[in-house]
Amino acid sequence: MTPEAALMPHILPDPALKRIAKLSVRLWDRFYVPAKLGSDPVYGAVTKELGSSPLPVLDIGCGLGLLAFYLRETGYEHAITGFDYDAMKIRTARRMSERGGFAGLSFMTGDARHGLPEFGGNVVILDILQFFTLPEQEALLRAAADRVAAGGKLVIRSCLRDDSKRFRNTVAGDWLAKLTLWMKAAPVCYPDRELFESVLSSAGLNVRIEPLWGATPFNNHLIAAERVG
Ligand SMILES: C[S@@+](CC[C@H](N)C(=O)[O-])C[C@H]1O[C@@H](n2cnc3c(N)ncnc32)[C@H](O)[C@@H]1O
Repeated sequence: MTPEAALMPHILPDPALKRIAKLSVRLWDRFYVPAKLGSDPVYGAVTKELGSSPLPVLDIGCGLGLLAFYLRETGYEHAITGFDYDAMKIRTARRMSERGGFAGLSFMTGDARHGLPEFGGNVVILDILQFFTLPEQEALLRAAADRVAAGGKLVIRSCLRDDSKRFRNTVAGDWLAKLTLWMKAAPVCYPDRELFESVLSSAGLNVRIEPLWGATPFNNHLIAAERVG
C-alpha cells in the first residue's frame, strides 16, 4: 500500500460527528470527541472492514464507546458490546448511549488480562496491546480469535515494533503522553508483525496487515484477520 492510500478519510460527515459530540456528558468531550473522530482514520477503517457483516461486535478496550456511536451513525445496526477496565469510562459510555437512545449497545467493565466475555461475532481491539506484556498479548489475541465467528473478523489497530523512524516516534509519543499524564498507563511491550501472523494464523484466521498511520508520524497498522465461513 502506498503512503497516500494509508491516509484514509473518515467516512462520517460533520453533522454526524456533531451528533456524537452532543452525547458527551463532560464539557471537555464536546471538543475532544469530534476532533478525535474527525481526524483519526481508524473508525472509518473499522467501518470499512465490517462492511455489511450481520454479526455483532465486541470492542475490547472500548474507552468511551466512540466506535459504537460511530458505527451506529454509519447505519451498523447489530449488537455492539464495549468492554474496558476503566469503570469511569464505562459509566460515561452508558450515559452517552442512554442520551442517544440507541438500541443494542452495551458496555461492560472488565480486565482483558483476566478473560473476555462469552461472545461470537466480530471483535475489535484498538490501541491497547502496548499496555500488555508479550504473554498477555498472545493470550488476548488467542482469546479474541476464539470469539470470531465464521464469516467474522478480528480488527486490530496497533503500532508494530520494527526498526523504522515511525516506530521510534511512537515510543517517544507514548512516553510523552504518559509523562504529561494524558495517558494513565505507560507502554509495556510493542507487538511485532510476526506475533499477529503466527498467533492469528494458528487460530485459523486469514491475516492481512496494512499501514494505518493517517497524517500522523506514528507506526500504526491495521491488522484484519478473517475466519472464512
Ligand atoms: C488508547 S484507549 C483506546 C480507546 C478506544 N479503543 C478508542 O479507540 O476510542 C485504550 C483503552 O484501553 C483500555 N484498556 C487498557 N488496558 C485494558 C485492559 N487490560 N482491559 C480492558 N481495557 C483496557 C483503557 O482503559 C482505554 O480505554
